[in-house]
Amino acid sequence: MTAQMVAIEGLDGSGKETQTRLLKQALESQGLNVATISFPRYGHPSAAPVEEYLCGSYGQHASDVNSYAASAFFAVDRIASFLGEWREQFESADVFIADRYTTSNAIHQLSKLPSDQWRNFVDWLFDFEFNKLGLPKPTMVVYLRTDVTTSQFLLEKRYGGDESKRDVHERDLGYMTRSHIAADWCAEQFGWTTIECIASGEMRDREDVHREIMSRVEFV
Ligand SMILES: Nc1ncnc2c1ncn2[C@@H]1O[C@H](COP(=O)(O)OP(=O)(O)OP(=O)(O)O)[C@@H](O)[C@H]1O
Ligand SMILES: [Mg+2]
Repeated sequence: MTAQMVAIEGLDGSGKETQTRLLKQALESQGLNVATISFPRYGHPSAAPVEEYLCGSYGQHASDVNSYAASAFFAVDRIASFLGEWREQFESADVFIADRYTTSNAIHQLSKLPSDQWRNFVDWLFDFEFNKLGLPKPTMVVYLRTDVTTSQFLLEKRYGGDESKRDVHERDLGYMTRSHIAADWCAEQFGWTTIECIASGEMRDREDVHREIMSRVEFV
């Protein structure tokens, strides 16, 4: 039975994939059986509605699809892939690491709602995915905290100035700013382990961030 499930969260380009890989390597070198998954499952049938949403088929603005509808798409991706793809791995791993998870919905969909509706939304979301659908609940959430300016800079670098490559979330600066505020709120509300990834206006070295993650979380 899985001992630990870690969700790695953060704004776009905050280093989730990088830190997932470093964490996996470090825990494996301690002899633990580690499995990882990355969401959304781009390219898999379970992610089809998510891909349509992100590329703008349902509207060019993130707000064209309401928080509950968009969350349903991402939830389908998680539960369909759990049932058909990663359940066994999850059950046999000592540590299972998810690069984005239900917690990403909290960050990215809260930003569409007024803050007096945030509590209702996350209550609904967590109940829906963890209680009703039966998806595993992370034992720990590591929040890679960056800022919007850095996120934008990293995206510009990635897309080489080609704005058309950005998805409906990435192309909206106001949306990203609200997501940042929502992420901080979630971290505080739910006791996420916050790792400050920016120091003196720059991304901290990835190994440095990794060392802090290892020192802040306890693994079996
Ligand atoms: N600490 C760091 N300092 C500088 N660059 C970094 C750091 N960590 C990751 N990167 C680089 O930034 C880019 C984004 O990193 P990564 O893909 O790990 O982030 P991500 O959070 O998974 O991104 P996305 O949200 O787009 O999936 C990559 O090119 C990666 O090599
Ligand atoms: Mg990534």
